[in-house]
Amino acid sequence: MLAETKLDTLSAIYQRRAVRGYTAEKIEKATIEQLLDAAVHAPTAVHREPWAFVVIQNKERLRQYSDRAKSLLLAQQEATSFFRAAEPQALAVLSDPNFNIFYDAGTLVVIGCKARGPFVEADCWLAAENLMLAATARGLGTCCIGFAVAVLNTPDVKRELGIPEAGAAVAPIIVGVPKGPIPAGTRKAPVVLSWVS
Ligand SMILES: Cc1cc2nc3c(=O)[nH]c(=O)nc-3n(C[C@H](O)[C@H](O)[C@H](O)COP(=O)(O)O)c2cc1C
Repeated sequence: MLAETKLDTLSAIYQRRAVRGYTAEKIEKATIEQLLDAAVHAPTAVHREPWAFVVIQNKERLRQYSDRAKSLLLAQQEATSFFRAAEPQALAVLSDPNFNIFYDAGTLVVIGCKARGPFVEADCWLAAENLMLAATARGLGTCCIGFAVAVLNTPDVKRELGIPEAGAAVAPIIVGVPKGPIPAGTRKAPVVLSWVS
């Protein structure tokens, strides 16, 4: 059952975590619509509101995109050398036939745009954070899926999802009911390069 926790803003910021295990509970359309509404209240450069959304709630389709994403990433020299240097275990999971880049979540929200522009990616990622905080406040889990960006921007997948040729998928976010409690996250202290006064 969806918990309407309604956290204050700071609690949502500190409690949001990348969730990688979900129950089978389906997220209702009305809930997704509330999350999209929170997303579009993000700041937007020159008030362009360039974002446009794709919602996928079909596990079979997500599994297909996951399999294609893994093959695509493994074939990309740039992606594989990035993971080899930064996170070798990420490269290993891409070769695992059982690994689903969407962690079997039942909902993927893709935040994208109908046309590219100078601040469009920034706007989309700000919308993504709003969506993730709103989900946290409602007791839902989310995770950005960078692994999905390449496959979602292939011409045939864009066509399938109604993303115009001039547009792009920018921020794929899975949403679901977390399987268990999520421990608090940690971060390094902020690095302040200068503080001029
Ligand atoms: C742009 C971006 C792409 C990401 N891509 C993935 C991904 O493909 N798979 C994944 O499991 N986590 C992904 N993450 C989640 C990060 O791994 C996670 O945010 C980070 O480890 C910090 O953990 P926390 O969000 O729980 O604080 C991504 C995060 C960002 C911001």
